[in-house]
Amino acid sequence: MGETAKIILNGQEYEFPVIEGTEKEKAIDISALRATTSYITLDNGFGNTGATKSAITFLNGEKAILRYRGIPIEQICEHSTFIETSYLLIYGELPTKSELEKFEAPFEKYYKLHPDMLNCFAGYPQAGHPMGLLSSMMCSLSGYYPELLKPSLSDDEFEETAAELLAKVNTISACTFKKMQGQDFVEPKEGYSYIENFLHMMFSTREKEYECNETIVAALRKLFILHADHEQNCSTSSVRLVGSSWANLFASISAGVSALWGPLHGGANQKVVEMLEEIQASGGDIDKFIARAKDKNDTYRLMGFGHRVYKNYDPRATIIKKDCERIFDTLGVTDPLLDIALKLEAKVLRDDYFVERKLYPNVDFYSGLIYKAIGIPTVMFPVLFAIGRMPGWIAHWKEMKENPESRIGRPRQIYTGSTERDYVPIDQR
Ligand code: CMC
Repeated sequence: MGETAKIILNGQEYEFPVIEGTEKEKAIDISALRATTSYITLDNGFGNTGATKSAITFLNGEKAILRYRGIPIEQICEHSTFIETSYLLIYGELPTKSELEKFEAPFEKYYKLHPDMLNCFAGYPQAGHPMGLLSSMMCSLSGYYPELLKPSLSDDEFEETAAELLAKVNTISACTFKKMQGQDFVEPKEGYSYIENFLHMMFSTREKEYECNETIVAALRKLFILHADHEQNCSTSSVRLVGSSWANLFASISAGVSALWGPLHGGANQKVVEMLEEIQASGGDIDKFIARAKDKNDTYRLMGFGHRVYKNYDPRATIIKKDCERIFDTLGVTDPLLDIALKLEAKVLRDDYFVERKLYPNVDFYSGLIYKAIGIPTVMFPVLFAIGRMPGWIAHWKEMKENPESRIGRPRQIYTGSTERDYVPIDQR
């Protein structure tokens, strides 16, 4: 027998197997704990709980390592496209030329929205947050593909759904922007790459066609790749949890979008820029904001700092920060918020409170500034995160469905409410 862990409860010893991943990280397998001891574990926020084995993404928070299917994120960012990265995440291997062509071929067809979907957009308030609209629209896709809602999809059906989702999130995201602007939707353009099409559908108007700029296309390619997966984060866990009930892929993805929306997760990129704007409006008093974030009686947090897993610089932030300064230079953009961000980061990295808690800039700290430089409004930032995260969600849903060990996700609890008491009629309360 390999390594084991012993738990002693009321003098009795119980032994549990230790399992080891391919990168030597270890876990005590307590799947038999309740059945053998009648105890459960309690782990607030699941900080110590492995919900699954997964072969998709490896990250080491202490060493700032991030790899998709074993390949370092730095190499993927350097050489790959977003669609190729999506294939890698979903199917586990880099595609051959013909596999990639086959994967990408239906995208042009799938970019197009069913005409009835336009009615769904029409009924949504123009001032509504685009993430609400995106989540609803991703789920509403289920209405258009009733044949793809069964619990198990064939390989071809899965491939169709995956391509459909990747293409549709592009179009739907651009349409949420047009809706916000009160502008007509723009049709996708044949021959355009995934990112060119997104920019075209976002920024072209009836009067004027948007001219894609190489620097902007390259910046979005990298940002989408950097956001493509991050193992068992809040939104991916939501997708897996919803999917574990055999809910279809559209519904599961829609739950992922909703989870991502929160400011502690994918909504942070929007909140970072709003925070920098607030600092600017207050006359640039960075210390005041740092003091608030450290104050135990204030729930305020510095957005874009800290991470559940990274206890060192987020490797995605390292890449984005370098790019941010270069993109500003190439586009000839100046933004006083970049200066505030650099000063804020420098102060935080020297401040004992943040040093002791290992709070470094995360992926969201500089990404918003790039989106802003490209001309994307702040409220749309989480939507761009969702486009990037789509292949990761799809890959995890697929992995979960194919795992014979998968069971419906159903955590337990320690009940802390009233013990048994009698119902009191309303006139006696
Ligand atoms: N500003 C000030 N204090 C912070 C921050 C912050 N941004 N983040 C954590 N802390 C403190 C926290 O108050 C706690 O202090 P203490 O030990 O004295 O109680 C300690 O650091 C540990 O924090 P935690 O809340 O237990 O950590 P967590 O792992 O549960 O939360 C986090 C991780 C990312 C939600 C959190 O760091 C945070 O709220 N950051 C700001 C929001 C943000 O930037 N989110 C984007 C994350 S990256 C994108 C993604 O993949 O989701």
